[in-house]
Amino acid sequence: MKITLRLIVSLLLGTALVVFLFSYIQTQAEEKKLNEDLGLRAKLITKSFKEAVEPFLDITERPDRIKQFIGKFKGHVRLIGILVYLKEGTFVTVPDELSQKEMFKNELTESIEKNEPIESVGKWDDKKIHFYAIPLEKDSLIVGSLGVIHDRSYIIQRVMESWKRMAVTFSILAFILSVTTLMIIRWSVTGPIARISEWVKKERLGDTSLTPHQLPEQGDVKKLFFEITRMASSLKAAKLDLVEQTRLNQSGESRWTKERLKDYLRSKLGEAPLYVIANREPYIHRKNGNGKVECIVPASGVVTALDPVLQATGGVWVAHGSGNADRETVDKHNKLSVPPWNPTYSLKRVWLSEEEEKGYYYGFANEGLWPLCHIAHVRPAFNISDWDQYKGVNQKFADSLLEELDSRSPLILIQDYHFALLPKMIKEKRPDAKVAIFWHIPWPNPEAFGICPWQEEILDGMLGSDLISFHTQFHCNNFLDTVDRVLESRIDWTAFGVTREGKTSYVRPFPISVSFASNEEKIIQEPQKKKELLKKYGLEGKNIGIGVDRIDYTKGLLERFKAIGRTLEKYPELQGKLVFVELGAPSRTLIPTYQNHLSEIEKLVSAINSQYGSKDYQPILFLKEHHHQKTIRQFYQIADFCLVSSLHDGMNLVAKEFISERHDEDGVLILSRFTGASHELKSALIINPYDIEETAEAIHQALSMLPEEKQERMKRLRNQVQDQNIYRWAAELITELVKSF
Ligand code: G6P
Repeated sequence: MKITLRLIVSLLLGTALVVFLFSYIQTQAEEKKLNEDLGLRAKLITKSFKEAVEPFLDITERPDRIKQFIGKFKGHVRLIGILVYLKEGTFVTVPDELSQKEMFKNELTESIEKNEPIESVGKWDDKKIHFYAIPLEKDSLIVGSLGVIHDRSYIIQRVMESWKRMAVTFSILAFILSVTTLMIIRWSVTGPIARISEWVKKERLGDTSLTPHQLPEQGDVKKLFFEITRMASSLKAAKLDLVEQTRLNQSGESRWTKERLKDYLRSKLGEAPLYVIANREPYIHRKNGNGKVECIVPASGVVTALDPVLQATGGVWVAHGSGNADRETVDKHNKLSVPPWNPTYSLKRVWLSEEEEKGYYYGFANEGLWPLCHIAHVRPAFNISDWDQYKGVNQKFADSLLEELDSRSPLILIQDYHFALLPKMIKEKRPDAKVAIFWHIPWPNPEAFGICPWQEEILDGMLGSDLISFHTQFHCNNFLDTVDRVLESRIDWTAFGVTREGKTSYVRPFPISVSFASNEEKIIQEPQKKKELLKKYGLEGKNIGIGVDRIDYTKGLLERFKAIGRTLEKYPELQGKLVFVELGAPSRTLIPTYQNHLSEIEKLVSAINSQYGSKDYQPILFLKEHHHQKTIRQFYQIADFCLVSSLHDGMNLVAKEFISERHDEDGVLILSRFTGASHELKSALIINPYDIEETAEAIHQALSMLPEEKQERMKRLRNQVQDQNIYRWAAELITELVKSF
């Protein structure tokens, strides 16, 4: 009611002001015109009286004659007085009362003296009057003056009538305005709000008898109503999830496992098939030196995370067939069942020409977007032909996926920066698909992202997804900020949603993880195996540090090795004892920046080794090749510490893999604060990798840490990773994706 009243009062005040100004201007103009008419009329009358009166000035009985003459005009329209005054003293007036009281004598005298007409307005008795006098002449001499008085009350009356008319107009207008406003507010605002309130109340109390569709849909209120509907369903879904979670907690099932994920998704998705699209395939077939085909699992965070998910759920993984024996191992649909030793899902390979791979993968994805998103001080390079290839390859993957889909609504999980355009391409053809894109690398701030000449197309492509996900809230915020800056869209900062052209995409953080190796999966059970490994690499009796990386400038390898050198310099007692094993998988080796980076690393490693090493001792063991999972896991298990020194990293799964392999609850994790993992793994020794002194100190601390502290820290880290494992990640992400409909 308050709003309605305020609105009506403001409208009326505004209207009153306009009507008043308008009336004021109009009445002023009317009054002026009537005054001018009256003045003119007085002028004409005095002129004709003058001509008639002047001949009487010669004769002796002039007062009588003049009086006789002017007496005839008494009562002429609005003429209420005529006066003739002669210098010699004659003062003749009609009515007589004027001369008796000597009224206007001063004005008449003034007219004689000045020899010019005199005009004035004033009052006579209770009348408003207009007075006009002109000089009288005889023989070209001024001998007197003649004046007329007109009643001008009618002018005032007319003005008053105008004001009254305006007041009536205003009253009618005010009435119409008030009634119309009341009706509009009632129909379009208060009525629908009251109905929505009633509906929300019923929903809250669990009464679903009034469905949203029964509510009227009008203009902007429709939008509000729509948002509330969505909010209500989100709340409902959250409530259901909470109930489900409580149920699971109570039944001791709070940890997610492969089996639980399988059951959960079956109940959640029914028959909806699951598709993963990632550039990197989880299993690569290639020929070794002897021409024998071997299957390798590539070093990729995407593979580490998503392969266990598909092993649990089944489905199809669409990826670039990059191995030189890949074509030999697929069927006629370019598919094979994987893992080859225990098939649970399908891998579909997409073939790319050398040109396509060069432009899309090496060029746009890894020389453009990769350095753009990582703050590692490598300049991104963008060029149009790479962009064209990127678009073409995204379309190729979209086509390859689309031909797989049947009539059921699929669930599609797109991975990473290689496929920013894919969500929109898929949604255009299959609006019924539930599409999520997971961005495994950081998302920079809008200024940094603005470097990309095709930022609009990239954002537009991503917004084809129903769900856009990053590892951290910080990257979600950066993404939303970028969209806000670049595209015409509506951002809802409370629901973290972007609405564009009527479609909403939700932006959520889901920190990715690993499957967490169960005790049964332990590889090194017997001390014998451990001994063999130590012997093979000359590590017996040594303090062992480990690093596992693709050789990439974002991983902070130079900083890491410098810190090893500094540790040996600062703590000489460690010389001959500390060995750092780097399992470095060569990566993206066709890109010059990667080639240069590798040679810089090699130079640094050999400098440190020759400074602190000897014939039988090398402080850094740089094992530069692709390593099998089994070898990596063995090293994780024998290391005293694992050093992750990324300069910038979306998550970094090496940190989580190391923890998951430490069944003995031993070993220390040293972790860069610039990784997504550092937000979760608080019991690690957190370092700034650029600070060589700090890293050297952390290495020393790890090596001198008391066993109890090591165990306590590792226990906490293991609890964290076991709890937040990849099965939980998949369940939560898919739940959110399904919910967003
Ligand atoms: C990062 C990316 C992955 C990629 C991996 C390995 O983790 O997020 O998408 O697969 O690096 O890089 P590569 O270029 O060899 O696939």
